[in-house]
Amino acid sequence: MEFSIKSGHPEKQRTACVVVGVYEPRRLSENARRLDECSDGYLSTILRRGDLEGKLGQSLLLHNVPNALPDRVLLIGCGRERELGDAQYRKIISKTIETLHDMGSMETVCYLTELNVRGRDTHWRVRHAIETASSTLYRFEQLKSKKNVTRRPLRKIIFSVSSRRELPQAEQASIEAQAIAGGVKLAKDLGNLPPNICTPTYMAERAKGLCLLHKKAKAQLSCEVLDEAKMLELGMGALLSVSQGSEAPAKLVMLDYQGGKKNQQPIVLVGKGVTFDTGGISLKKPENMHEMKYDMCGAASVIGTLSAVVDLQLPINVVGLMPCTENSPSGSASRPGDIVTSLSGQTIEVINTDAEGRLILCDTLTYCERYKPEVVIDIATLTGACVVALGKHPHGLFSNHSPLTNDLLNAGRESGDRAWEMPLWEDYQEQIDAPFADMKNVGGKGAGSITAACFLARFTRKYQWAHLDIAGTAWHEGDKRGATGRPVPLLTQYIIDKVREAEEEPKE
Ligand code: BES
Ligand code: MN
Ligand code: ZN
Repeated sequence: MEFSIKSGHPEKQRTACVVVGVYEPRRLSENARRLDECSDGYLSTILRRGDLEGKLGQSLLLHNVPNALPDRVLLIGCGRERELGDAQYRKIISKTIETLHDMGSMETVCYLTELNVRGRDTHWRVRHAIETASSTLYRFEQLKSKKNVTRRPLRKIIFSVSSRRELPQAEQASIEAQAIAGGVKLAKDLGNLPPNICTPTYMAERAKGLCLLHKKAKAQLSCEVLDEAKMLELGMGALLSVSQGSEAPAKLVMLDYQGGKKNQQPIVLVGKGVTFDTGGISLKKPENMHEMKYDMCGAASVIGTLSAVVDLQLPINVVGLMPCTENSPSGSASRPGDIVTSLSGQTIEVINTDAEGRLILCDTLTYCERYKPEVVIDIATLTGACVVALGKHPHGLFSNHSPLTNDLLNAGRESGDRAWEMPLWEDYQEQIDAPFADMKNVGGKGAGSITAACFLARFTRKYQWAHLDIAGTAWHEGDKRGATGRPVPLLTQYIIDKVREAEEEPKE
């Protein structure tokens, strides 16, 4: 899909379709009013007849609007103007894109980016229009032998801004949006791939592929992959205890983007990459086990975020670390009761082999130290308990550094990819103390997502760190099932904000 920006009046657009909003009850938006005026009340006559109330989600296609150049005018219901917030705006855009896609107009000029969204400016409206459009059009059909072909698909969307003065910020928003949308799509594709294709080795290949893709752009992106022999040599006993039951060898995939100064400390992103989580010997119930193909969505979001960062050529250093493995039962699998030694030297009693995410993350979080990170953020489909606590809307956010917490919460609000803070109090730590080892990998009754975060906290004392539990947000179930690509928007926003902050107050 091609996106672009322009400024101009709707009646003057020589295009297949122009989209304007109508508020409830039957109130024309500014650009709808322009079309109404130039056509001597053609739109208001139709509304008076009762063809469109303006309720959110309604639409009405008009042909031959007098004195207007576009072939068609699509009226979109926007609900009550006073109630137009982030969520309503995204619904309006999504509904519009679906309608256009089914309609057969290959090009359209959309004026909905001029709607008045509470507390949001042009930059935000353009960003979210493009991201939402791209998400709405997403399909995962690589593995269908018969593809759904649309006869006249929507090819080009031009979003309008109300004056030429707004073009620069709108262009910037469009560039950011397309980079983020690209990262989200990449993360969705990886998440949606079945576990017989998306193996740890496959993840490594895709990370290498990202470097090749950007080689032409001379981007400073490189990839390195540690195999099991190397991990053994380093002493990653926790990570290897998870992969030992699987036929598929584990890979620690590392992407290194050097967009900033050489000595500048990097932001390190660590993504859980369990390409299938059976639970291991502590086997999961069969219901919904297929969803555990999404257990690598943390790693996918790291690749997606790096893709966006590289696209934008941000002047900052970002490292992505992805421990990738399967969690499978077999004769060589780890047993409940095994005690393993992590890279940090701390010993762990594996009470439940299904609490494997923290085992692969803890060694990676220790490995992080060698990058002298400015901050470390891990992203993981870590606990079912997080879904119980927060449901499917926000990511669970845990951190040992409150400015980092605030930055991430803000990035979530700006990007519409929200997180919610959970407590990481010392009080919970005793739940993972163990008599025979330094700790155990489960915290017993209560606060399952918090005790998992407390476990990770024991490996991240040397730097500023945040943990995003994305168990509830990484994929949709049911009809619209599939990976969401989250939290690529949040993470990319966080990094964009960091760059902007550094530009505004350069440190001496
Ligand atoms: N990948 C799962 C977490 C998960 C479960 C995410 C369901 C989304 C939906 C993780 O590896 C896991 O199995 N966690 C266990 C931990 C428990 C054994 C302490 C869980 O949440 O049940
Ligand atoms: Mn598990
Ligand atoms: Zn898991």
